[in-house]
Amino acid sequence: MTADLPEGWNRVRRVVCPGSFDPVTNGHLDIIGRAARLYDEVVVAVLTNVSKQALFTTDERVEMLREVTAGYRNVQVTRFHGLIVDFCQANDISAIVKGLRAVSDFEYEQMMSQMNYRLAGIETLFMTTNPLYAFLRSSLVKEIARYGGDVDGLVPELVLVRLRDRLESLKQAPGPGGTR
Ligand code: PNS
Repeated sequence: MTADLPEGWNRVRRVVCPGSFDPVTNGHLDIIGRAARLYDEVVVAVLTNVSKQALFTTDERVEMLREVTAGYRNVQVTRFHGLIVDFCQANDISAIVKGLRAVSDFEYEQMMSQMNYRLAGIETLFMTTNPLYAFLRSSLVKEIARYGGDVDGLVPELVLVRLRDRLESLKQAPGPGGTR
């Protein structure tokens, strides 16, 4: 039976998963993978944040994301700066996909989603995170790894290796490090 579907019902659904990804965690990867199964095209957009002291440069974060999402044919990784709504409009993206870990995430995410909708009519779609990763955030991973704690299983294997290398090289040559 053919459904009487409205015009444009099957248009390409391109969404964005934005973030700092410093570095990408298994929690991010879970959301990206689930978005890739739901939408035709997923753009992972890495914020070039000049005001934030990052452990990895934007290029390094993009490269790691490309490697860990290589198995998804409908995922592309790129960088952006400025407003996410401008990036969405420039790239024909109608919705932002975000993971919600806990109620504590909700308030800030709600403000951002309402602001983005007000600014440009860009929707935000929330997915609750896999409970396995509900406690996971990049900043915690970096802090634990910096003090020698075990972050195995929290980030993809190649990120784990680069994280250890980066922290080791910082130990040997501590310094301001500059803005990444
Ligand atoms: O991984 P993060 O740092 O939690 O990601 C936050 C991010 C990059 C999604 C958010 O800060 C963002 O969209 N920044 C771009 C600037 C912007 O549009 N700000 C207004 C949001 S209402």
